[in-house]
Amino acid sequence: MNPAAAAKPQQKNDRLWGKTVVLTGASSGIGRALCRRLVQKHACRVIGVARNEERCAALREELGEAFSFFLFDVSDESAWQDFALRLQERNTVPDVLINNAGMLPPFCRFDKTDPALFSQTVRTDFLSVVYGCRALLPLLKKSPAPLLCNIASSAALCPLPGVTAYAASKAAVKSFTEALAAEYPADKLRVCLILPGFTMTDIFRGQKSEIGKSRLITMAAMPCEKMADKIERALTKGKKRKVFGIDAKGMALLYALLPAHAARICGGVMRRGAAALFEDVFTE
Ligand SMILES: NC(=O)c1ccc[n+]([C@@H]2O[C@H](COP(=O)([O-])OP(=O)(O)OC[C@H]3O[C@@H](n4cnc5c(N)ncnc54)[C@H](OP(=O)(O)O)[C@@H]3O)[C@@H](O)[C@H]2O)c1
Repeated sequence: MNPAAAAKPQQKNDRLWGKTVVLTGASSGIGRALCRRLVQKHACRVIGVARNEERCAALREELGEAFSFFLFDVSDESAWQDFALRLQERNTVPDVLINNAGMLPPFCRFDKTDPALFSQTVRTDFLSVVYGCRALLPLLKKSPAPLLCNIASSAALCPLPGVTAYAASKAAVKSFTEALAAEYPADKLRVCLILPGFTMTDIFRGQKSEIGKSRLITMAAMPCEKMADKIERALTKGKKRKVFGIDAKGMALLYALLPAHAARICGGVMRRGAAALFEDVFTE
């Protein structure tokens, strides 16, 4: 337990209090915001995973010893196995695994998408979650109250044109997480699935036009800090599944009502609302 945990939790029944957390995607966006909350509000010891050393070192500088990090590519299964060995050698038993790392390739129609980029997306956005679970579940299960949290996306609730690899990967994360959750009684492994909608982070950095220029996105997108607050609250309260964001809730409803038409309807909204951003999706 993190020594800072000697202080008292701010909330009653704080399920995160003093836990050892492994969190992927710690160097940026939602993951970095979660790291800060876990250390500063819940006295957690956070072991972050990402590839960018400079950003991880800056976070270590900011958060101190309660934050440590490992640099590896989560889409590489052998790197996960090495990581698990390193934890074992240090007698580190994680209580919580948050699979948050992810990438969003440029919005593009399937037949124009580079096959290598498609595969990389599936490996990063879906298989990394499987690799992480395979490597760390044996360790996690040694914790008295293990928690697995997987971050999927609204794209898992209603697929969108232009993100075939991302939507398929996130839908796979959702199904994988729900199936896995049903394999364990909650006292053996608690599982939480988070489905965030558009959030203002650097995940859009590779897009053709800045998302800030798209009114559709800026209207729908949630600030990163607010999304992190919501995820933090869901984990603190022991929620099993949460959809965050008005766009995500709307997409889930649309898909439930009109499963055969939902993606096309969303496509129409995208085309009208942010033509520059989705140029490679809707033009030849
Ligand atoms: N932003 C949104 O609108 C939105 C909506 C729904 C769901 N999500 C999901 O939320 C999660 C966090 O996204 P974000 O918006 O916070 O994005 P972000 O700011 O781009 O952060 C992504 C994080 O993932 C890490 N990462 C990416 N590929 C990696 C790899 N191969 N190996 C190791 N680490 C890797 C990055 O670290 P390095 O670059 O240092 O490796 C970074 O820390 C993702 O799973 C994303 O799909 C985001």
